Amino acid sequence: MAKLQDLRENYELGELLESNVHSDPIEQIKIWINDAIQHKEKEPNAMVLSTINKNGSPSSRVVLVKEMDPDGLVFYTNYESDKASQIAKHPFVSLNFNWLFLQRQVRIEGSVEKIGEDRSTKYFQSRPKSSQIGAWVSAQSKIIPDREVLELAKEELDLKYKDQDILPKPPHWGGFKIKPTLIEFWQGRRSRLHDRLRFTLKDGKWIIQRVSP
Ligand SMILES: Cc1cc2nc3c(=O)[nH]c(=O)nc-3n(C[C@H](O)[C@H](O)[C@H](O)COP(=O)(O)O)c2cc1C
Repeated sequence: MAKLQDLRENYELGELLESNVHSDPIEQIKIWINDAIQHKEKEPNAMVLSTINKNGSPSSRVVLVKEMDPDGLVFYTNYESDKASQIAKHPFVSLNFNWLFLQRQVRIEGSVEKIGEDRSTKYFQSRPKSSQIGAWVSAQSKIIPDREVLELAKEELDLKYKDQDILPKPPHWGGFKIKPTLIEFWQGRRSRLHDRLRFTLKDGKWIIQRVSP
């Protein structure tokens, strides 16, 4: 293995200035996701979601942002998963996007709430049939004896729904919206003098401040 202490990146690809950042940070996230798409990033909408577990410790995993509203970011999951139970007890999360080949990171903190059933159903039924079946098969986060349990359940559902492409949405599946109160953009710069622009929501308005790297 390479010596980790000798790995070193020069950050010179871009800059993020008060004069070129969008005044609405949600719009700025969209701009950066679009940049990532244009640079052919795999999973440009992947973000690390951190929740607080029952011991008060953070717990992180990757999810995909699927919709961006003016007031928040929507991802979809199983409402009986560990993350959903943690959100039910403590509805505040942090998110982290990183597109490291563009030397960029976005950190987000905010509250989180379920979206409406109709919206979840609409999105669920727009997914490929195999994903719809997968959502029915998986009791996400539960311990299972082996992989075969999944394969057998999938076979059963493939048979049950062989004549239809659109399945009903499982009642335990749907979206959450994260409503940010803090959004911070990081662009790597020369000599480790990176740009950090932090937006905080005060009385419904975004305040922008520069933070030392
Ligand atoms: C690239 C990638 C995308 C993922 N997208 C989602 C997603 O959108 N929703 C989801 O529930 N899990 C997604 N997962 C799986 C989660 O990381 C996690 O394993 C799962 O949600 C269970 O988490 P939990 O047990 O903490 O609830 C994704 C994983 C990866 C690596």
